[in-house]
Amino acid sequence: MRQAGRSLPEYRAIRGSGSILEVIKHPELAAEITLQPVRRYGVDAAILYSDIMVPIFAIGFGVDIAPGIGPVIENPFRSEADLSRLRNINPEQDIPYVLDTIKILSQELKVPLIGFAGAPFTVASYIIEGGPSRNYAKTKSLLHTNPALWNKLLSSLTDISIGFISSQIQAGAQAIQIFDSWAGTLAPSTYHDFVQPFSKKIFSFIKTQGVPSIHFGVGTGELLPLMGQAGPDVMGIDWRIPLSEARNRIGIPCALQGNLDPAICLSDPKIVKNEVENILLSAPKNGHIFNLGHGVLPETNPDILKGIVETVHIFSQKINKDKQ
Ligand code: CP3
Repeated sequence: MRQAGRSLPEYRAIRGSGSILEVIKHPELAAEITLQPVRRYGVDAAILYSDIMVPIFAIGFGVDIAPGIGPVIENPFRSEADLSRLRNINPEQDIPYVLDTIKILSQELKVPLIGFAGAPFTVASYIIEGGPSRNYAKTKSLLHTNPALWNKLLSSLTDISIGFISSQIQAGAQAIQIFDSWAGTLAPSTYHDFVQPFSKKIFSFIKTQGVPSIHFGVGTGELLPLMGQAGPDVMGIDWRIPLSEARNRIGIPCALQGNLDPAICLSDPKIVKNEVENILLSAPKNGHIFNLGHGVLPETNPDILKGIVETVHIFSQKINKDKQ
């Protein structure tokens, strides 16, 4: 999950200034930032220090990531003419630094590395709105008023995501998470008609690569069956819905990832432990990846996160023992 500023002091000490899009151009540095939380917390997987906007940035669409705000687009996507500003990425030329970072990590890591990409809808929402949005009015307006252009835009973004994912897998990423963070703004029928076909194409592609896939969005309680049908191996769930209920709604078999409310991590250790244990107890006994329901809040105390990892490990050791 995006860690909203990576709250660690060791991160702030080495990150330097400038946008994350510039920082990741230094593979040794990006690899070190990826390794820091693994070292400090002892988590069971690493997530690459990169961003969903990297390919759009790399093909020169004109995006920056402003601290505390998120992606900001210089000239947002407005009409048919803007399609020519999108082209497929050529990973070796456009993002060699991402591939080099993954190669370093493949040597260094003792846990799996999760690569990732933005789902076409969420990336489209940024390039149409020009930045973060509350109601996604421009995006929804384009999709309903000009479905032909919408389809061309999403096809193009689907190809870009597939190129981005494919190169990460070839470089050594062992699982892929697809972030459709803002899909929860859509009615199920809109998601079904205008978004699901493109996300489905991405999960079908990942399947051909033989690595597990995870699908995540925020506030997606009503979309879970449709997002599950897109074909991931794991569904990421935010904190608004209990895992047992999420399991029922998805219906088809897939594992779950989630779902502690990141804001709980700002309270005291006892409360946090209790919440974590409640989630572990309500989770399916086979196929659960413990995670927060969204990114870590920047003001989170690292010791709280360390405590969570310990609680999860003690619990899973106990379950494994019971199974034997
Ligand atoms: O913690 C990590 O380093 C994991 C890697 C990661 C980042 N972005 C690094 C990052 C991941 C998985 C992402 C995905 C991402 N980026 C998503 C999907 C996941 C989610 O959180 O819903 C989205 C929506 C984005 C777009 C984006 N990038 C936003 C909204 C922001 C936050 C701006 C802010 O400062 O609050 C970013 C910046 C960003 N990407 C940061 C990190 C660690 C924080 C700023 C920085 O270090 O430069």
